[in-house]
Amino acid sequence: MTGARASRSTITLKLLMAVSGIAFILFVLAHMYGNLKAFSGHDAYNEYAAHLRTLGEPLLPASGFLWILRAGLIIALVVHVYAAAALWRRAKRARTQRYVVKKNLASSFSSRWMRWGGVAILLFLVWHLLNFSIGKVNVSGGATNDPYNLLVDTFDTWWMTIIYLLAMLALGMHLHHGTWSASQTLGLTNTVRARRNAKALGWILAVVIAGGFSLVPIFVLAGVITK
Ligand code: HEM
Repeated sequence: MTGARASRSTITLKLLMAVSGIAFILFVLAHMYGNLKAFSGHDAYNEYAAHLRTLGEPLLPASGFLWILRAGLIIALVVHVYAAAALWRRAKRARTQRYVVKKNLASSFSSRWMRWGGVAILLFLVWHLLNFSIGKVNVSGGATNDPYNLLVDTFDTWWMTIIYLLAMLALGMHLHHGTWSASQTLGLTNTVRARRNAKALGWILAVVIAGGFSLVPIFVLAGVITK
């Protein structure tokens, strides 16, 4: 591949990362906000969970909205992981070439974090869906048919809360650096002011989303949110 073509397709891959990443940010923001319903108690939370299944009716069939959302998320996931793997391969190939003499330690550190953090989030997601969605696994052995009770039983189990909090730490770091990378790809870091804004946005998204998600597990374990 010629140099110009290689860099064109690298830009395409980065654009795909940025756009699918933005779709994920919108989803996790909404999901985090929805989770906070747990603070309103059993009935409010379960009503909200049921409401998600009837959203869009009668225009859409039952759970129609949920399936559109799922299809969108699956497409975004395939695109994000494919582009990440392709960029990872490219970076590896580039390193074996002689003319790459300057190695920027700071940027390779954060990109390593992006890769392994991304893998950690993917593993978390597999467990998370087995836990709450595709399968319903109640690690404390209780019932699984009541969304609120399943949530409380899960985070009453201290090691589950630890797993989720570690995953949220990985998510926060991923969002922090990912926002910066996406801003660069989209040409939003060309001035000092724009760079400052992009950095600030990265911090805000990381703290609001990872912090917001962490509240329910912490408050369940602390005995504030109970059955
Ligand atoms: C502390 C953090 C989190 C908690 C407590 C939580 C809680 C839940 C619960 C209770 C459900 C089941 C909803 C239902 O079926 O009514 C669910 C589904 C889901 N969660 Fe999370 N979640 C968290 C973080 C995340 C993160 C970080 C992601 C994405 C990276 C995520 C992605 C999903 C997806 C894709 C579903 C499946 C939705 C569907 O059924 O199609 N969650 N979550």
